[in-house]
Amino acid sequence: MYQSSINERKLSEEALERQLFFIEKCKEKVSEISKELGRPLKCCTQTFGCQMNARDSEKLLGILEQIGYLPTDEEKEADIVLYNTCTVRENANLRVYGRLGHLNAIKKKNPHMIIALCGCMMQEPDVVEKIKSSYKFVDIVFGTFNIFKLAELLFNRWNSGEQVIDIWEETREIVEELPTQRKYSFKSGVNIMFGCNNFCSYCIVPYVRGREKSREPKEIIREIEHLVADGVKEVMLLGQNVNSYGKTLEKPVSFAELLREIEKIEGLERIRFMTPHPKDLSDDLIAVMRDSKKICNHMHLPVQSGSSRLLKLMNRRYTKEHYLELVEKIRHEIPDISLTTDIIVGFPGETEEDFEETLDVVRRAKFDSAYTFIYSKRTGTPAAAMENQVPEDIVKERFDRLKTVGETAHSINERYVGKVLPVLVEDIDDHDSSMVTARMTNNILVHFKGTSRLIGNIVDVYMDECRGFYYMGHIAKQPALQNKED
Ligand code: SAH
Ligand code: SF4
Ligand code: F3S
Repeated sequence: MYQSSINERKLSEEALERQLFFIEKCKEKVSEISKELGRPLKCCTQTFGCQMNARDSEKLLGILEQIGYLPTDEEKEADIVLYNTCTVRENANLRVYGRLGHLNAIKKKNPHMIIALCGCMMQEPDVVEKIKSSYKFVDIVFGTFNIFKLAELLFNRWNSGEQVIDIWEETREIVEELPTQRKYSFKSGVNIMFGCNNFCSYCIVPYVRGREKSREPKEIIREIEHLVADGVKEVMLLGQNVNSYGKTLEKPVSFAELLREIEKIEGLERIRFMTPHPKDLSDDLIAVMRDSKKICNHMHLPVQSGSSRLLKLMNRRYTKEHYLELVEKIRHEIPDISLTTDIIVGFPGETEEDFEETLDVVRRAKFDSAYTFIYSKRTGTPAAAMENQVPEDIVKERFDRLKTVGETAHSINERYVGKVLPVLVEDIDDHDSSMVTARMTNNILVHFKGTSRLIGNIVDVYMDECRGFYYMGHIAKQPALQNKED
């Protein structure tokens, strides 16, 4: 076992060197094209889907910037456009196809433009076939297991003049240490594991992200230490089922133990994680959260349905009662916690009674917010083959009812009015440039008067007013700023 991990590392080192070679090659090519055109080249990356994809996109952008591209948000002025796709629901796929048509029109005016597609949708053979036959203007297609190869694939595209397709079936090597371009200087996602072994019957993720694989705690700690040295105050630990972390390691480590180690990192101020699974939520994890000074006051705990009958068909491996007991236990140990969830409406065979059970859970669990999704049939999953799919109009009607019940439950947010709370300032407010937007530890946003100098700082804010999903406030105490000057 030990030997194999050394070999794996060696393989990764070789793969890293290979990619650094292609990065250099691409750099030469970019500077050549840039001289011809008399301007710098630009790249535009678009991310669909979850935080894992967002983190992957930071790695992809890191490579593109290293090659010499300048980032832009405008597709029409980009020399390479890269879509990191999601396929969790049919809608995600439709959006990508729709935008590809639009990109084709831009490419006609700008023929040297490169269009690259990667991510979960590309792991589906049908999608790749469709791109090969009907979207010939797409230059590069790769999947979720080989994002580190972007420079090599780009170089191959330029060399061959043909569409380059490279899809792997599983992780062959994890290449660490390639350049990464973080979206925020002060917070970062950190992968603690890849893939998923749960096979919830509706879900395509295990098929497109492969088997669960945890990273070594040492590697995770080292990455976070580097991030902190680089100014990061908050990390979000990422995995499809974070609380099953460590089970497949040579020396198993639990998620709670990992959190205890991460807590010790000096300079790190906030720890978040996404997503825990109710079936693996241990008392130890709740205790670590209760006792921690850094773990945020928020847990996103997807329930999916309130009906134990449906939960069984979904292969979630917990019951309604078990879920509600967990909620009670969590609220008892961490009274101020904010709980959020995911719910699917219209899973095959969902009856009115099943749906009522879901409404009951929403009322009883008092979620701070719930992401509700209409069930989407995903090819190859067990649920897609189930016979009694629920008619669209019934699903839509239930979806609307769930929204109404959910909205009443949200009034719970009012509880912070009149309090002073520490918040991490993230951005200038989208709607008013004299304001900033910040996040409380419970993940709720607050807007208040402030300048860009506050970004990346934790400041105390007085919560004046709750407006449903967010707060308006004012700064309670001027902080000693730690970052850049105006
Ligand atoms: N690993 C996480 C969530 C991954 S996908 C977990 O287990 O909680 C994010 C959310 O998308 C899921 O929680 C689920 O609510 C929703 N989802 C997944 N597959 C879906 C499908 N086929 N149709 C509708 N919603 C789906
Ligand atoms: Fe999908 Fe279930 Fe895995 Fe989450 S735990 S990614 S819902 S299979
Ligand atoms: Fe979508 Fe892939 Fe995430 S399917 S939700 S981007 S793991």
